[in-house]
Amino acid sequence: MCGIVAYIGNKEAYPIIIEGLRRLEYRGYDSAGVSILNGDIHTYKKKGKVKDLEDFVEGKNKSGTLGIGHTRWATHGRPNDKNAHPHNSGNSDLTLVHNGIIENYASLKEALAELGHTFTSDTDTEILVHLIEEYQKRDDLSLEKAVQKALKKAVGAYAIVVFDKKSPNKIVGARKSSPLVLGLGKDEFFLASDATPIIKFTNKVIYLNDEEIVTVNRDGSYEVVTLDDEVQNHEVKEIDLKIEELEKGGYDHFMLKEIHQQPTTIFESMRGRINAEEGWILVGGMQDHMKRMVDADRIIIAACGTSWHAGLIGEYLFEDLARVPVEVEYASELRYRNPVIRERDVVLALSQSGETADTLAALEMARNKGALLYGIVNNVGSSIARFTDCGSYIHAGPEIGVASTKAFTSQLVVLTLMALNLAKEKGTISEGYFRKLLYAMEDIPKKVEQILTLDEQIKYIATEIKDAPNALYLGRGYNFPIALEGALKLKEISYIHAEGYPAAEMKHGPIALIDESMPVIVMATNVSAYEKIVSNIQEVKARKGMVIAIVTEGDTEIKKIADYTIEIPETEEPLSPLLSVIPLQMLSYHIAVLRNCNVDQPRNLAKSVTVE
Ligand code: G6P
Repeated sequence: MCGIVAYIGNKEAYPIIIEGLRRLEYRGYDSAGVSILNGDIHTYKKKGKVKDLEDFVEGKNKSGTLGIGHTRWATHGRPNDKNAHPHNSGNSDLTLVHNGIIENYASLKEALAELGHTFTSDTDTEILVHLIEEYQKRDDLSLEKAVQKALKKAVGAYAIVVFDKKSPNKIVGARKSSPLVLGLGKDEFFLASDATPIIKFTNKVIYLNDEEIVTVNRDGSYEVVTLDDEVQNHEVKEIDLKIEELEKGGYDHFMLKEIHQQPTTIFESMRGRINAEEGWILVGGMQDHMKRMVDADRIIIAACGTSWHAGLIGEYLFEDLARVPVEVEYASELRYRNPVIRERDVVLALSQSGETADTLAALEMARNKGALLYGIVNNVGSSIARFTDCGSYIHAGPEIGVASTKAFTSQLVVLTLMALNLAKEKGTISEGYFRKLLYAMEDIPKKVEQILTLDEQIKYIATEIKDAPNALYLGRGYNFPIALEGALKLKEISYIHAEGYPAAEMKHGPIALIDESMPVIVMATNVSAYEKIVSNIQEVKARKGMVIAIVTEGDTEIKKIADYTIEIPETEEPLSPLLSVIPLQMLSYHIAVLRNCNVDQPRNLAKSVTVE
């Protein structure tokens, strides 16, 4: 949430910062702004997208080799020009961008106001820059020392970058609970919320830890210290990210590209971890902790949003195959109640970004209770990846569309492999069924490819239901969480109200809503509950609902009663979510496009939710 980018070096800073902000726009798009140093500080900020900022800055003085930029997801203060970052100090010497929330901003503001500070925005951020200014003035401190002192007073989460026109050869950054990466180029430095704005220039990065402050100097030196002034020597990491992975690659939207990448990304998530022919599965992250996992009393899965839906399927997988009790928790709930978590529990955090504040906080709480922490993360080097005891990357590559698609299916792959690996270790699965599932896993990418060829049919169905005010998604067993995910995808990007329900629960409420204007999307691929699903469809039809059924290829019975059927290839039931979610992603995509919605940047949402 909120993207930060900063540059100091020999090149013009503005183009680098603007390009960086475009890459970080997935983190928020309520407003954007830049400050460039050229003798004086030139600050430009605008409500709206990065493009609006660019149009606004056109023709203005933006030359300079040091600058900072920000793209905002509003927390404190409406999305408008005055609340856009950067925020400048009262004496106009300092300019600062911030991602996070300063929770004690009200008391700090009051104290600063008494000292004569006046504020021009409604943000918590502006307080911070005034506080730094105050310490500089009062105690005659260097920028980095004043930042250190101010951050010791701040309660909450922050990634900040700040510079001072009186110290024109340095930039200072700091983080706590919000990400900040330092990029080390040749005679130049970058600071950014993630590595995407940096990768064009250098693959050498340092991931800052919480409560660390970095000072980068134009002479090529830099220093990282803690809030308590201890010097930190970080290992420089080399990241493996290609610029093409950050482009749309000929697709109209990132979401469409990411949906179509799934045959490849699913394969990548499995690569080197499974061999059906030789009959083995090996999930690297589990190996060093296998005994603890085999002996675990419980697995607790903590996640948010789409990752939480993947977690629900994880529950079915681990319980079904490895016979271990599982609880799936919204990270935001888990962290604030008083849960029973013991040393013999494994807490599994699922997160595409690896930065979700609630998931991270739930892990911190679980660590204090002694549980083993396992991360299933996409973003390499992210906070959750670094915080957990062990884990597995899902290797889906950068996901930029705000609505998660390929990360979800890759999370399912890793969860399935983990459940199978554990089942094998515990002896809770027969050799025959194990092999069968391995072969079925290896077939998934080509089956996904086959589903993607149904695009025209799904687009047609989208035109039929695009104006519906509501939609209901039903599923049973492994496909119940897919109903939730299908409904979330539709809500997120097309703004149609949708609910996902266990098919049998429909009778306990949602059935009251069904009439001819209500499309009901039914996952009907389960072999085990087939007859029951057919009955549920009959119940919808009896109330004039419109049924769109996702069925297994060759199904004839449902075809007779449903208004539309989408036929997908058969697979083993535990793997069926990997296939049944694909048509739902495609359906939401087409509906959103037909409704002229901004598919990649839906209103009010952000991809990386780094505030509570
Ligand atoms: C946001 C995103 C969702 C994502 C959720 C959890 O709401 O828009 O797509 O599922 O955060 O994010 P994570 O990065 O932890 O998976």
